[in-house]
Amino acid sequence: MNNLKVLAISGSLRSESYNRKALQIAMRIAADLGAEVTELDLRELDLPIYDKDIQDQGLPESVQKLKKTVEGTDVLIIASPEYNYSVSGALKNAIDWASREGNSLSGKVAVVFGASTGRFGTLRGQFQLRQILASVNVLILPQPQVLISRAEEAFRPDGSLTEAKTLETLKKLIEKTLKLAISIKS
Ligand SMILES: Cc1cc2nc3c(=O)[nH]c(=O)nc-3n(C[C@H](O)[C@H](O)[C@H](O)COP(=O)(O)O)c2cc1C
Repeated sequence: MNNLKVLAISGSLRSESYNRKALQIAMRIAADLGAEVTELDLRELDLPIYDKDIQDQGLPESVQKLKKTVEGTDVLIIASPEYNYSVSGALKNAIDWASREGNSLSGKVAVVFGASTGRFGTLRGQFQLRQILASVNVLILPQPQVLISRAEEAFRPDGSLTEAKTLETLKKLIEKTLKLAISIKS
């Protein structure tokens, strides 16, 4: 997995986010597999809400940074919460900006997973995210799916996952996706 660049993004902005916690675990897994891993913090990036008038005035610095960062990566790891059966507005907004003035996401490979306090562990939001990412030509493995439900009980105080099986599935998903990215690159 050497030379593979991974960009990790949490769809939740809040500092105590379960998805941020889950993302940290995913980042460690990817790094242990030999990938070069960077996190893109959407709260820090502070993108404006997509507006064609803003775009037409010249892409804001934050959007230029987003596009450049995405373009320099091979694999995206996205942990998104489910908001009202869909993805977070912050994540959708970032995808919308990244797809303008040359689709920076096209041809990327992605790991998509998420944590929610509900019973379905972002299942519905993940289906929507897959659909959104299909429209910008991002490749995602159909399986395995990582659904972290009842997130209040899913993490220990040190940030690790309580269920060994979830960790195992996340490892499998990341490893398979990185292999896919390598096979596309070569
Ligand atoms: C606006 C909003 C909508 C939500 N909708 C859902 C939902 O459709 N399904 C679900 O399982 N949880 C839903 N939740 C609960 C989230 O799963 C919970 O807030 C979770 O902690 C968010 O992820 P985070 O911890 O990474 O911020 C919603 C929360 C918010 C704030």
